[in-house]
Amino acid sequence: MQTTIMLTRPDDWHLHLRDGKQMRNVLPDTARQFSRAIIMPNLRPPIVTVEMAAAYRARILAALPVSLQGQFEPLMTLYLTDDTPPAEIKRAKESGIVHAVKLYPAGATTHSDAGVTDIARCFSALDRMEQLGIPLLVHGEVTDSMVDVFDREKVFIERVLQPLTQRFPGLRIVFEHITTRDAVEFVRAASENIAATVTVHHLLLNRNALFSGGIRPHHYCLPVLKRETHRQALIESATSGHSRFFLGTDSAPHPVSGKESACGCAGIYTAHAAIELYAEVFEQAGALDKLEAFASFHGADFYHLPRNIDRITLVKESWSVPERLTFGDEFLIPLRAGERVCWKKLT
Ligand code: NCD
Ligand code: ZN
Repeated sequence: MQTTIMLTRPDDWHLHLRDGKQMRNVLPDTARQFSRAIIMPNLRPPIVTVEMAAAYRARILAALPVSLQGQFEPLMTLYLTDDTPPAEIKRAKESGIVHAVKLYPAGATTHSDAGVTDIARCFSALDRMEQLGIPLLVHGEVTDSMVDVFDREKVFIERVLQPLTQRFPGLRIVFEHITTRDAVEFVRAASENIAATVTVHHLLLNRNALFSGGIRPHHYCLPVLKRETHRQALIESATSGHSRFFLGTDSAPHPVSGKESACGCAGIYTAHAAIELYAEVFEQAGALDKLEAFASFHGADFYHLPRNIDRITLVKESWSVPERLTFGDEFLIPLRAGERVCWKKLT
């Protein structure tokens, strides 16, 4: 039995850090493990300009504890709106700090009310992104209330993503936090310009986890967990060695009061144990030899960034996840709270 894993330091290609005191609480969890992370722009107000992204980046760097300073690089993104001017895309390219633009269909998820109401409104911005080689990151769900919530990703592929790839064949797109066999098949069949991130919670859990013994708000995220056959497809894709599937935690912290509510927020916090939990998934799939490429190579290659050089070590050592973690003036409940994780990253 393998008891040690050594791998090139990984990156997280999809992360929610929030801001202020809350950010100061969660940031060290990510920076301890990952060298870089793509920072989601869905703050209130959203990060819609390069100037806002630069200010947010400076706040992130200032929030790093002394021991992690110089060891973590936030890769910033812009929040695409109906009115994003192509000139802002050009500024993003020139900035060197903005690495992608995020598409949230309006109303699809947490803080998406400023998102895109009709993709056609963004064609001039997308055109510029295609020219300049800036990736589009996609929250791939339709918001049509007539579409069943479990089918929203599949319908998004048909209605939005497939046509988009035809209209902008040179646009690089990351289909974020994929949850279905349909998404896996779409990415496999698509061109080299289309990739996907896979979260650890979608690899670990199927939709039964939402209802085991009662309703489980801490397992609620968007896109919502799907049935087992989809989880199996995600495991196959992540552990296959295919270069267009890579790690993106979508770790999305919310205070307990926001989750344990009559109308609870979407988002699962996994940053406290991310690489260890991915290791568990890959071990169970008999594919530990594929973890490094998924976690440390494929994303950097797709973003045209250098691969990291330093290495981390995980050991087979069971540890107990805290029941709760401090989050601003409140607490958050991490995935596996009060339960055990079987791999541990050495500090
Ligand atoms: C994210 C959040 O809380 O910001 N929530 C989630 O369930 N994943 C938003 C998102 O990525 O959809
Ligand atoms: Zn997200």
